[in-house]
Amino acid sequence: MKTKLYHQQRLLPVITAARGFLTHQSSLPHLPVPPLKDTLDRYLLSIKPLLTSVEFENTKKIVEKFGESGGIGHTLNEKLKERAKQHNNWLAEWWLNYAYLEYRAPNIVNSNPAIIFPKFNFSGLEGQLEYVVQNILLHIDYLEVDTAGKRPMCMIQHTNIFGSCRVPKPKRDAFYTHPYGNPPCNHIIVIYNNQIFAVDVMRNGQKISAEQIHQQLKLVVASTPQPVESIGILTSNDRDSWAEAYAHLAQDPINKDNLETIKTALFAICIDRPGISYSGNADGKEYMQYFRNYHSRMLLHGEGSLFNSGNRWFDKTIELIIGPDGLIGANYEHSAGEGPPVVTALDHVCNYCMNNRLSTNENINPESLPTVRPLHWLITHQTRNDILQATTKINKLAKDVDLRAIVFDAFGANLVRSYKLSPDGFFQIAMQLAYYRLHGRSPPTYESGGTRQYILGRTETIRSATIESDTFARAIDWPSYSNQERRELMLAALNRHKDVTIKAITGHGWDRHLLGMKLIAMEQGLEVPELHKDVGYTKSTRILLSTSQVSSNCDLSLFFGPTAPDCYGVCYSPNPNNYRYSCSTFNSCPDTNGKLFAELVSKSLLDMQALLLTKPKL
Ligand code: COA
Repeated sequence: MKTKLYHQQRLLPVITAARGFLTHQSSLPHLPVPPLKDTLDRYLLSIKPLLTSVEFENTKKIVEKFGESGGIGHTLNEKLKERAKQHNNWLAEWWLNYAYLEYRAPNIVNSNPAIIFPKFNFSGLEGQLEYVVQNILLHIDYLEVDTAGKRPMCMIQHTNIFGSCRVPKPKRDAFYTHPYGNPPCNHIIVIYNNQIFAVDVMRNGQKISAEQIHQQLKLVVASTPQPVESIGILTSNDRDSWAEAYAHLAQDPINKDNLETIKTALFAICIDRPGISYSGNADGKEYMQYFRNYHSRMLLHGEGSLFNSGNRWFDKTIELIIGPDGLIGANYEHSAGEGPPVVTALDHVCNYCMNNRLSTNENINPESLPTVRPLHWLITHQTRNDILQATTKINKLAKDVDLRAIVFDAFGANLVRSYKLSPDGFFQIAMQLAYYRLHGRSPPTYESGGTRQYILGRTETIRSATIESDTFARAIDWPSYSNQERRELMLAALNRHKDVTIKAITGHGWDRHLLGMKLIAMEQGLEVPELHKDVGYTKSTRILLSTSQVSSNCDLSLFFGPTAPDCYGVCYSPNPNNYRYSCSTFNSCPDTNGKLFAELVSKSLLDMQALLLTKPKL
């Protein structure tokens, strides 16, 4: 991994000269190492609502000892500062390994998010192919697009999402990206009826035409009328099992070649088989709800081996998925970057698809068509067993996921902004309230805060459960409080959320700093400090509400699975007149209830709106 990141850093001046959207890279600031005392103060404030008073008093002593002058905290902090001098971003390489490549659970559901487009108006294989062509062409175009935003942010994630792939290895996976600045690779992979094809989309440095792609896709479809044994389903297994299966598979030279072809492809496109058809009226609101819920699951995990879980390569950074009933979406592997750059790419495609029809009526000489190459595998007895094992596990996992996609349309960001409040904070506090109403306590909460204003920055945790949110949640249903008091407590919770958000996105959260001190201790063979073994740390880092805001210009919705067995996974987007959000849980967990939680989020939004409206705008 080291090689990859250092490689990018070395390449930066060259890229900067070559590509407009990377112009700001070399002037971006470095992620700070915050002052130790500030971090420890913030840590104590943040864990207070999560601990009993006895636990808190004990943790406080441990934290004080950690922060004593000449104590272990200072030693580790100095070491971190040293590291920060030697790296463009002291955290980047650690984070990639720790959060992604060393994570051993299957990357589907547990790590890979998925994205759904609004429903498109096409049906059947012919319509499906038309949109497959659009998606292929527009993604290749996108590789050329200048995507600089309003303020300079680190754009490296944009260079990571095409031509890249995660590769399973024992203990720690590898992440491959096509060396940026080199001539682009020429092929994508297309998966249909579980059969993987390499399809050329560039020839002699030129994009091939829509009609040429269309003709190639017809060959793909005609050659595989029935589902074949799926090699791709192996990518749904836990990482260690998949690493073993991969090593075995790669012993055969043809298989090895196939794996290389997949790894180096620009992206994958999955032409899905139909799922379960809807029995009611396919026009109404109910159908749209069904469409969103059902297809969100299809995009997240493929609905099991009977449907499309085998029609995937879950390690590919971008897998575009086109279903036969107006479904367009994607599943993406997370090592490469966060949702926003992926959604930016997909927004571009969605916007085009909404406003243009494709013309594929050019006359093509069949001999001039670039090749379509089906990847054939040597499947040994052992690989067959690996496929069986992966199939059993994905079928169980797919059944276990409860995922609902909600459009809350009573109000949206416009109303909240008109009261000079943050639409993001408003939704976060509504979730705190919903969790408290359902479980009677505040949950250790993760909200992704982007740190891309720093070079190679990714995220910091915004700790949305605060003393103020906890106080508000306790008060709102308690009869002795007046509405005025409740409103003031709500505003205090929103203000605190704003404060923790600003701290996090400016690199002054506590999560990554404390993690850094733990990792540097481990790296240098020192004992892991007591602070990191104490209940304050273990409880607060065992996340029960994992959340993220990802907004889109084209009504795309991103969603992900729960990050632990008893966790809720919520992804949301505040829009001018609505909030769209998804909520995921595991059916096998007796402690969580996705249906009730989602209902309570909507109810909490309404209750907070009612409190807001008790006074005129500020
Ligand atoms: N009064 C009036 N307007 C306000 C306001 C206030 N008090 N507070 C915020 N607003 C405005 C903002 O200026 C913003 O306006 P804009 O859309 O015109 O820029 C808008 O309301 C939304 O702001 P807010 O709700 O505070 O959220 P945000 O859009 O700034 O997002 C984060 C907050 C933390 C989600 C964002 O900074 C971030 O880090 N995003 C990345 C998330 C990520 O990486 N996810 C990964 C998923 S895999």
